[in-house]
Amino acid sequence: MPVRMDSLQAFARHKLAGLNALHLRRTPVVTVRHDGLWVTRNGARLLSFSCNDYLGLTHHPAVKLAAAAAIEAHGTGAGAARLVTGDHPPLESLEAALADLKATEAACVFGSGFLAAIGTIPAVVGSGDLILLDALAHACLHSGAKLSGATLVSFAHNDPADLARKLSAHRAQAHRALVITEGVFSMDGDLAPLDAISAACQDHEAWLMIDDAHAVGVIGGGAGSGAAFPTAKIDLAMGTLSKALASYGGYVCGGAEIIALLKTRARASVFTTALPPACAAAALAAIEVIRAEPARVASVLSKARAFTDAVGLPPAQSAIVPILLGSATDALAAQVALEAKGFLATAIRPPTVPKGTARLRLAFSAAHQDQDIQGLAAAMKSL
Ligand SMILES: Cc1ncc(COP(=O)(O)O)c(C=O)c1O
Repeated sequence: MPVRMDSLQAFARHKLAGLNALHLRRTPVVTVRHDGLWVTRNGARLLSFSCNDYLGLTHHPAVKLAAAAAIEAHGTGAGAARLVTGDHPPLESLEAALADLKATEAACVFGSGFLAAIGTIPAVVGSGDLILLDALAHACLHSGAKLSGATLVSFAHNDPADLARKLSAHRAQAHRALVITEGVFSMDGDLAPLDAISAACQDHEAWLMIDDAHAVGVIGGGAGSGAAFPTAKIDLAMGTLSKALASYGGYVCGGAEIIALLKTRARASVFTTALPPACAAAALAAIEVIRAEPARVASVLSKARAFTDAVGLPPAQSAIVPILLGSATDALAAQVALEAKGFLATAIRPPTVPKGTARLRLAFSAAHQDQDIQGLAAAMKSL
């Protein structure tokens, strides 16, 4: 008997019409990434400033070769969850390399950064506990916090004094407390003041978890924001393999026991198939490039700063430079105008960013040439 779809379709139509009216409907567009920088979309060749491939490694010969060799040796899929079929060798090597890069005792790899967040947070805190989350934290951190059942309180963005106030107000009622923030904020490109945030955590017996998705490969000599703030005590450093590490997957680094606990208790690891060998091998090869090529790592920030200098913005703190436009229509119009000049700079609209803060989010890469950056700056100024 055919499934009746009428009312479901009508529901979706109504929701889509509402999003259309607000210019907030988003649809994926087929886009061919030729070399990590140049793309073809709707027949036009564009230079991308929207990709998180910060080190330009998704098309690096050694990274591609590592992925191909892993497929040849271990097949295309992991076969089952890691506790069932066991870890394939690239997964074990990757976890060792991640722990080494982040200077922690151990690492646990997940199927994605999103899964790392929603797997880790509920394994650490639950009902009767407290989570303090930066107001601009990524959606995956919100989802993990909600899933945990802990009391969720947000603190003002990058404001350790507000964090301390909220800890003073709420800590005593909770059994355990977890403070969560991002090392580099994904839509603003600013760095969390991890030294002051860590001090507030220490004062109130709270654990600190950071999401370093946009810091690894760019900040702290490529090791991430922990290396940039060596006095900060970071209990859990989460991240993704999908940005500077040029692959797909996520991870959490920390002490040996908490990582062992995650491997046996985090539902988003236990009840899902392990990362495919090629993804692990590609990320491992990318970490080797980070280790071997400090100049490539350092160049990301200098490229972003060349742009901010050229357009008269405050110096970039990371690979990400937001151009705040306010309304979704203005952001979309700027995207279209830049596309006409040969650049891909995707408009970012709510709910990815708060209402009234739609923007172009520019992402710079080690692979961008100086003339590319000056070309974008000239196009930007002419808008
Ligand atoms: C800050 C941040 N955390 C986590 C994620 C999720 O990582 P993944 O794409 O591996 O799921 C992203 C983006 O994708 C991100 O920007």
